[in-house]
Amino acid sequence: MTVEYSKIADVLAGKLTGKKVHLRGWVHRARSSGGMAFLVVRDGTGVIQCTVKKDAVGEKAFAEAGKAYVESSVKLEGMVKEDTRAPGGFEIGASGFELVCLGEAFPIAKDQSTEFLLDTRHLWLRSQRLTAIMKARDYVVRYLREFFFSKEFMEFAPPIITKSGCEGGSTLFPIKYFDDEAYLTQSGQLYAEVFIYTYPLVFILAPSFRMEPSRTVKHLAEYWHLEPEMAWYDQEMNMKLQEQMVEFVCQKMAKEHADLLEIIGTRKPEELKAVKGPFPRMTYEDAVDFVRKKGLKFAEHGDFGSDEEQALTAEHEKPLFITSFPLKLKSFYMREDPEQKGKALCDDLLAPQGHGELIGGSERIWELDELLKRMKQEKLSVKDYQWYVDLRKYGSVPHSGFGLGVERLVKWVLNLDHIRDAIPLPRVINRVYP
Ligand code: 4AD
Ligand code: MG
Repeated sequence: MTVEYSKIADVLAGKLTGKKVHLRGWVHRARSSGGMAFLVVRDGTGVIQCTVKKDAVGEKAFAEAGKAYVESSVKLEGMVKEDTRAPGGFEIGASGFELVCLGEAFPIAKDQSTEFLLDTRHLWLRSQRLTAIMKARDYVVRYLREFFFSKEFMEFAPPIITKSGCEGGSTLFPIKYFDDEAYLTQSGQLYAEVFIYTYPLVFILAPSFRMEPSRTVKHLAEYWHLEPEMAWYDQEMNMKLQEQMVEFVCQKMAKEHADLLEIIGTRKPEELKAVKGPFPRMTYEDAVDFVRKKGLKFAEHGDFGSDEEQALTAEHEKPLFITSFPLKLKSFYMREDPEQKGKALCDDLLAPQGHGELIGGSERIWELDELLKRMKQEKLSVKDYQWYVDLRKYGSVPHSGFGLGVERLVKWVLNLDHIRDAIPLPRVINRVYP
């Protein structure tokens, strides 16, 4: 006879009260006294208290229940009882118990150092907090896809191994490619630009890699990059799309996942409900003035660092667009604003309260002469980018797009201290284990 296992979430939702259920999972906490063992069991959907009595399960099973460690894997069956004293309001009175794997004493207990927890991340991912964060991340990713599919975008698969840098040479990860050398991609954008001629609205959701020399709470060496690219879109349409996307994810998270937000404990649903377009906008020049007035020494005209981002967004509850960056600060593919010489048609979308840049977007250069001129200024070899240049030769069209760092979005939406907690197994400058 095949056994049907129930989900603890269904038990906690009151769907199985008074019924006999079969559960399987892992011991979250264990304690025994006299003829009774109390096991708190988790199965990934929830945790529930189970009482195992010697006279109900028999001598052998009871002995096994008494031995079980935290994280031993178990199966049990029993009646679902409503019990206001039990955490979650329900309890299982076991009538059968089986130890699947006793295992060894679990190395993670309370008050462990951050380094130890990162070294044992493969085990720490079972914790209630990380479980909740990973579920929230999963919802964020689903909503991002849902948003683009609802607008009839097509998801496409870019290459991860490439010869073409997109965001400057300094952060490229070189790899041996048979007898040649190639790189792990920094961005799929240039390939997304290829694909808009197959289908006009496309997006990529794939890993990008950056050999960032800095140790910060916002940088990963490997992150998930959402990159929509739209034929016929100008920069204004591009920014509207970004706004709608961020609003969509925040509203969904607030309305449908207040429970997860509560377990994670760092973001209130009301704060996400306030994230509605239009988002405030500031030009680069005004942003420079603003940070200088705040007393920051921003002598050279450069890109904003962490302190500037913090100052710019400290008082915002919605993300802030910074527009019209000087062309020379930005990548070679960005289109010059015909109404403002030397300025790019671009935006950086900064998350509130210093969580950092969520999005970089721009209108792309679509005319051949213009692209060749910019590539020359940037000292890029046309030969290396011939395929990209080709796109401007055959039916080129105005187009725009952007890149969103998924973990940056998750970090801000959940108000996490560090970006590494927004991805299961983080890769950062000093860590590629486990
Ligand atoms: O601003 P970036 O470098 O833009 C691009 O790569 C464009 N080619 C994207 C495009 O238009 N299709 O990166 C885009 C976003 C940033 O705004 C940030 O959210 C994220 O990618 N990002 C990182 N996230 C985590 N760790 C890092 N080291 C990141 N570098 C960029
Ligand atoms: Mg950027």
